[in-house]
Amino acid sequence: MLPIARTTTPDAPGPHEQAALADRFTAVRERTLELCAPLSAEDCVVQPMPDASPAKWHLAHTTWFFEAFVLGGEPIDPAFDYLFNSYYEAVGPRVARARRGMLSRPSLAHVHAYRAAIDRRVLGALFDGALDDDALARLELGLHHEQQHQELILTDLKYTLGTQPLQPAYRELARSAPAAPEPLAWRTEPGGIIELGAPDTGFAFDNERPRHRALVAPYQLATRPIANAEVLAFIADGGYRDHRLWLSDGWQLAQAEAWQAPLYWARRDGELAIYELAGVRSVDPAETACHLSLYEADAIARWLGARLPTEAEWEHAATGDPNAGNFADRGRLHPDRAAAPTGGLLAQVYGDVWEWTASSYAPYPGFRPLAGALGEYNGKFMSGQHVLRGGSCLTPAGHVRRSYRNFFPPSARWQMTGVRPARDV
Ligand SMILES: [Fe+2]
Repeated sequence: MLPIARTTTPDAPGPHEQAALADRFTAVRERTLELCAPLSAEDCVVQPMPDASPAKWHLAHTTWFFEAFVLGGEPIDPAFDYLFNSYYEAVGPRVARARRGMLSRPSLAHVHAYRAAIDRRVLGALFDGALDDDALARLELGLHHEQQHQELILTDLKYTLGTQPLQPAYRELARSAPAAPEPLAWRTEPGGIIELGAPDTGFAFDNERPRHRALVAPYQLATRPIANAEVLAFIADGGYRDHRLWLSDGWQLAQAEAWQAPLYWARRDGELAIYELAGVRSVDPAETACHLSLYEADAIARWLGARLPTEAEWEHAATGDPNAGNFADRGRLHPDRAAAPTGGLLAQVYGDVWEWTASSYAPYPGFRPLAGALGEYNGKFMSGQHVLRGGSCLTPAGHVRRSYRNFFPPSARWQMTGVRPARDV
């Protein structure tokens, strides 16, 4: 076993905690299967681009994570280390990321059998008291890891379905008629010396720690993320053709790939339509805008006379906001309409869209990655990426926290990403 820093309570779990952990394990594992239930075997194998892994690989990799890091011992199939290791150099070589879609074997049925076998072993070990504190901490981590992959299953599947000729639906989803959005308003924050990061107790990823102080000047934050109405106005104003609004790297990419609108937007019969997981439909101006790269988010914010917030500004402004919103469990799987703030709180802080920040994904002062192979989980990606906050409509409810740091390269568009602009005071 590879020791890692403790992420759960310091005492060994009693029978009640063991039963609760077993229930959570079962619920998370079943949820992954539910998400894949509407898919054909063919849907589960296709890899439309290197960043978007097939559902079959996600099903197997999340299972391998429990086998490799919680159970240890004799593997069910030694070849699975090579096939289903994502990026752990300490574990060994692995199939190239871009070739995960080439794995027609093991079959989908074989992967499901592998899942069931590992589930039995994990639950057996849990009830036999065979998992020590470190293994239990890794089990906890494995549940959060699987929830991250639940979101990736949906984002990657959306790219698989949304970029093929017929753009089929994942499943039917309820929608209301297009409308106008709530006006974009601003809330002033006084700033000062603020605290950010996760406290020492309770589960958090290593990249959220340690909690530390930062100096933040007074600023304003939009009361909601931008809506399609603002994106439509940006397009109509020539925003995609005006180099003055763009970061250099973004301008090069937008030119090279001929961006004229966010990902999944296309002109149909003279009007702009979007692909969502229920199929193609017209753009609703009132909806929260999504599938924006950081470059587009930054250009639209600049066009609005604003900028991206830093992650310290975001986290500070989110203080007191209930951790609730349009998460995947609501089953909408698309951002809601831009909402008005209520009770002095910002609207749509959690759920709907991951909000890009201006902050590079970097270690907090005093950051210490987990020991052993799991130290590769977050820390080695702290280069060339930006932090996103708040979770999305594809994130499982209860998965994110105020201190949660997601990260993607600035060019990424296939994730459920949007922007809440900020302004200097
Ligand atoms: Fe993973």
